[in-house]
Amino acid sequence: MQRILILNPKGGSGKTTLATNLAASFAVSGSWPALMDLDAQGSSMRWLSKRPNEQAPIYGIAGFSRSAAVTRSWQLRVPRDCDPLIIDTPAALETHDLPEITRGADIILVPVMPSDIDIHTAAKCIADLLLVAKIKRSDDRIGIIASRVRSKTLVSQSLMRFLMSIDIPLIATLRDSQNYLRAAELGVGIFEMPTWQVSKDLDEWHSLLGWLDRDKESVNSSPEVAVRG
Ligand SMILES: Nc1ncnc2c1ncn2[C@@H]1O[C@H](COP(=O)(O)OP(=O)(O)O)[C@@H](O)[C@H]1O
Ligand SMILES: [Mg+2]
Repeated sequence: MQRILILNPKGGSGKTTLATNLAASFAVSGSWPALMDLDAQGSSMRWLSKRPNEQAPIYGIAGFSRSAAVTRSWQLRVPRDCDPLIIDTPAALETHDLPEITRGADIILVPVMPSDIDIHTAAKCIADLLLVAKIKRSDDRIGIIASRVRSKTLVSQSLMRFLMSIDIPLIATLRDSQNYLRAAELGVGIFEMPTWQVSKDLDEWHSLLGWLDRDKESVNSSPEVAVRG
């Protein structure tokens, strides 16, 4: 089972949008993905609760809730047939949380909005992933997604400069599109909306899905899921 962690300590950077649309894209293509929500705001789980019954199933794990009745590992268990596991994480993650939350992740996707503040926070997040969580650049596990990109603006250019300076790949650029808001309201992904409406957005996802696919061969198959205990 491939584990895809979506991470950026900045709220509003597009984590939940990426997590839910990714889950929907896998579901549409015939996999049975699991979507784990570690954010107490529960946005991914709210999206899943709106999901129409006729859509392809996604297994939801409300990792933020604590229950005295079951153990943590039981609460976070992922059915054996699920693949991949997509993990949506909260904003305001502390640096010292990173080693644990990234343990066992095959892929770490960092969505970044093209604003100076967001670029600055992302730079710190990537530095922490490399230095604190000890993810090796050579593992090629970290990918950046530029999110809500309006056009080739000056800030987008400074995002590109930043990416070149840190030598972490930009996997996809997702434009600012109302389709993500519509999809969120309906509990679907853009892959489940009429093609004429979303064709521009779908084009932007091909490079991301291709990059994830390239990795599938090499993922480990241990059943452990590393999340904050
Ligand atoms: N590419 C996009 N185009 C338009 N709106 C977007 C896009 N990505 C995210 N959003 C919107 O931005 C807001 C924050 O995104 P969200 O995914 O919830 O961020 P996070 O989970 O990092 O806090 C949401 O209202 C979401 O619908
Ligand atoms: Mg979120």
